[in-house]
Formats: sequence, C-alpha cells, structure tokens
Amino acid sequence: MPRTPRKPRPQGQITRGKTARNRLRRVDNFLCLYDPTLIRQPDPPGQVSWYVDLGYGEEAFTALESAERLRRLNPTLPVLGVEIDPERVQRALPFEDERTRFRLGGFNLPLQPGESARLIRAFNVLRQYEESEVQESLLTLGERLIPGGLIIEGTSDPFGRIWVANLLRKQADGELWVEGLLFSTNFRWGFEPAIFQPRLPKNFIHRMLPGETIEAFMSAWKQAALATIAVRTLGLRQWFIAAALALRDLGWPVETRKRPLRQGYLLWKRSGRVRDGALFRDLPS
Ligand SMILES: C[S@@+](CC[C@H](N)C(=O)[O-])C[C@H]1O[C@@H](n2cnc3c(N)ncnc32)[C@H](O)[C@@H]1O
Repeated sequence: MPRTPRKPRPQGQITRGKTARNRLRRVDNFLCLYDPTLIRQPDPPGQVSWYVDLGYGEEAFTALESAERLRRLNPTLPVLGVEIDPERVQRALPFEDERTRFRLGGFNLPLQPGESARLIRAFNVLRQYEESEVQESLLTLGERLIPGGLIIEGTSDPFGRIWVANLLRKQADGELWVEGLLFSTNFRWGFEPAIFQPRLPKNFIHRMLPGETIEAFMSAWKQAALATIAVRTLGLRQWFIAAALALRDLGWPVETRKRPLRQGYLLWKRSGRVRDGALFRDLPS
C-alpha cells in the first residue's frame, strides 16, 4: 500500500509565548501604508497566497487583529497563524473562519499544494534564537514567498510602543533581499535614538560595536538628533522628522517622506542578498 507522505517536522523550537492585545497594531498600520498593493492583490484562480503571522504566541490576539485591520484593504485576504507549540495551535482553532486558519509549523511553513505566502510577519520570535540561526531561518521562511512578497521580522517592547524590524523582499529570480531596517515609535516614551537599541532585531542586537554597520548608523542618528535638538520645542514628531532629514544630509539613505516620519516610522533603506550576509552588514554595491 502506498504510504501517505509524512508532514515535514516544523523547523525551530518552542519559545516563550508572551503576547498582548494590540501589541502589533503599529506593524499592521505600517504594512497598510508601505505596501497596500501586496495586501490588495487578488489570488490567481485556484491559488491561495496567505498573510502569515509566524509565532503568534500563547493567544491568537495579534493574528486575529491583523486579519481585521488588513481586511479593511482586502476583505478576502487569507490569514494564517503558524505556531510551533501544538497547545497554542489548539487554543487558536476555535477562532478559525472561512479565511482565517491556524496551523502547527515552523520556519518551513506548513503550506499545502497551491498555497504560498504574500506577506510574513515574525515578531518577537527570532529574538529567542541564536544570532547564528537568523540567516538560515529567514531564508527558509522566504522559500514559500511569492515574487514581490515581503517578510517583516522584528522585536518590540511588551506594548508595541517601540520596535525595530527587518524588511526582506523576494525577488523575481527567487532570491531574498534585505530592503530596509524600520524603526517605529508611538512617542509615548519620548524620542532619542538610544531608546531603540534594546529592541534591535537579533541580527543587530549584539553588534553595537565599533566597525559594525549598525553602530555607525546609530551613532550618525544620535549626532543628527543632537544637531536638531532645538526643534524639540515644537514637539517630538517635529524633532523626529528634523533628525531624519539631518541623518540623510549625513549621507545615510533614510526615507524622508513626511507622512511615515510623522507617524513615527524611520526607514533605513538597505539593500543586499540575504544569503551574502546583508542582514548583518552593508555589502559593496
Ligand atoms: C514571544 S511570542 C511572540 C508572540 C507575538 N508574535 C507577539 O509579538 O506578541 C513567540 C512565539 O513564537 C513561537 N515560535 C518560536 N519559534 C517558532 C518557529 N520556528 N515557528 C513558529 N513559531 C515559533 C513560540 O512558540 C512563541 O509562541
């Protein structure tokens, strides 16, 4: 008798599952602002291209909230919560509906034939891994992305007020590229570039050292913030914008459109193939 093919073992390990309602609201808001086309695009007939929330945690709050928010742009968006802890999957199953599913899985996403991912969010997942595991885990995660698909992978504080995330894009040739490093604040804890340091994603958190790309960037941002400190009297948002413009003038490729900056998003535009090590350092172009 032919054997039923075994499901591949989920790649990764069970980690602490702490989460909170609305913790990732600003991640959803950013995605709607940054790439509405990717969220809106219809699936070809017979295909399903998920929005994946990888490692949603003890409760399914954040995945369900994303479904609600992103469906304001695309009411038929399929949303898949993936967890490596079977108990957390069981707990989420009652919340399934026609377009929302929860499955046991890991970095090698549990997708079926005809399924792919358009957008993957992995928040507060890799921070609990070793730095040496980051590149391979993200490459594995990117395998099931559609061309043009996006990964947002980052670390936040417990309330989602401050976070930093990698943006990675799947290219037409199948390669995963770094697209940027995004800093987000809702200004509740003031503004100083240093407030982001404890929330750097795993590829950078241990690299605040002389000679490292991230250290050079953070130093330049601190310098830019200091040079524009007089603007603080007009408000933190104005200061955040002025510091970003000064950072650009120092030669750093940051996004300077006012709208995302006013909302507390600073995007450092980075570029390079993940497999060449671009997560960790700037590569010669
Ligand atoms: C700290 S929680 C994060 C919850 C939520 N994403 C948040 O930011 O509030 C991390 C979760 O990721 C899960 N996890 C860790 N590695 C994973 C992997 N390789 N694949 C799927 N889930 C994973 C853990 O089991 C845990 O529930």
